[in-house]
Amino acid sequence: MIEAKGLVKDFGPFRAVDRISFTVPKGQVLGFLGPNGAGKSTTMKMLTCFLEPNEGTATIGGKDILQDPLEVRRQVGYLPENAPSYGEMTVSEFLEFIAEMRGFRGKERVVAAERIREICFLGKVWYQTIETLSKGYRHRVGFAQALLHDPPVLILDEPTDGLDPNQKHEVRQLIKNMGKDKTIILSTHILEEVETVCQRVIIIAEGKLVADATPEALISQSTFHNAITLRLSPDKFGASHQASQNIEQYRSSLLRLNGIDRVETSAEQPDMLRVFPKSGKPIFDTVNRFAQEQRLSLSELKVEHGRLDDVFRRITTSPEEVVNPVSQTHQDTH
Ligand SMILES: Nc1ncnc2c1ncn2[C@@H]1O[C@H](COP(=O)(O)OP(=O)(O)OP(=O)(O)O)[C@@H](O)[C@H]1O
Ligand SMILES: [Mg+2]
Repeated sequence: MIEAKGLVKDFGPFRAVDRISFTVPKGQVLGFLGPNGAGKSTTMKMLTCFLEPNEGTATIGGKDILQDPLEVRRQVGYLPENAPSYGEMTVSEFLEFIAEMRGFRGKERVVAAERIREICFLGKVWYQTIETLSKGYRHRVGFAQALLHDPPVLILDEPTDGLDPNQKHEVRQLIKNMGKDKTIILSTHILEEVETVCQRVIIIAEGKLVADATPEALISQSTFHNAITLRLSPDKFGASHQASQNIEQYRSSLLRLNGIDRVETSAEQPDMLRVFPKSGKPIFDTVNRFAQEQRLSLSELKVEHGRLDDVFRRITTSPEEVVNPVSQTHQDTH
């Protein structure tokens, strides 16, 4: 449904987007992650015909962004990073105006605007001018204009930015539901959003695509993947020096077991041990057996799933490695 082919964008001597290629099948929700200034918004602007690439091109639903920009715009709903600027219009006037631009006439125009009022929870501010709206509501108006013509492709630049926690939840649910029959690209800095909403993630750093994988595949690259946290019950250690002595003994015994890479302890939490596996292999049985043999009295034994922020930091601070390029077969993983 979306195919980017070697997109390049230069601003003077500065290359903001450097040969980015990917394809998104119908019905997939793809997340763009990357540090500030990585090139996410610039890539989105090229896909939505707001910026012309210096090199490369893209197609949306088979239509080329350079040869057929009008048809591309028809198929795409775009939420740009900045809120709409028609400050003096009321929300209803603005959305009816957008409906007209999108080719709705007469009663259809009002129906389209009202449909979107419900979807984007705009009832409360319907007759208020845009310049007097709070940031979150202004953002919602932007979201509404992107969805108004019910397009098959959505390109959403930080769709939950500035929303309160309840609205973030609502918008994520909405995106998830729409993702069943639309193709969606969204950018975000909220890593948990990627885990809950996206079937696939692309990480961009310094204009380059540095990772393309499912959230699960990325998380499994975390050093915390399958790590185990043990917490001793308070009755196992009285004075803290005794606790740290015990902890040190446990630490060195654990290190002698198979499959264990390292064991972390913490001065702030003297009752805690964190055991890291070699190459992410499960070590639950080994650690559990150890705890039983040593008759450890535990208040916690937790297996870590992995942490996306850990992977994100590693990839975006040394962007030379490309992680797990995924093939199109991921389209049916949701
Ligand atoms: N019109 C422009 N002229 C010059 N430089 C630009 C222009 N637009 C973007 N840039 C630069 O291109 C780079 C990529 O910007 P872009 O907005 O795509 O980043 P981003 O990944 O969306 O970042 P953020 O997470 O902060 O939104 C930045 O260094 C930015 O300053
Ligand atoms: Mg941006």
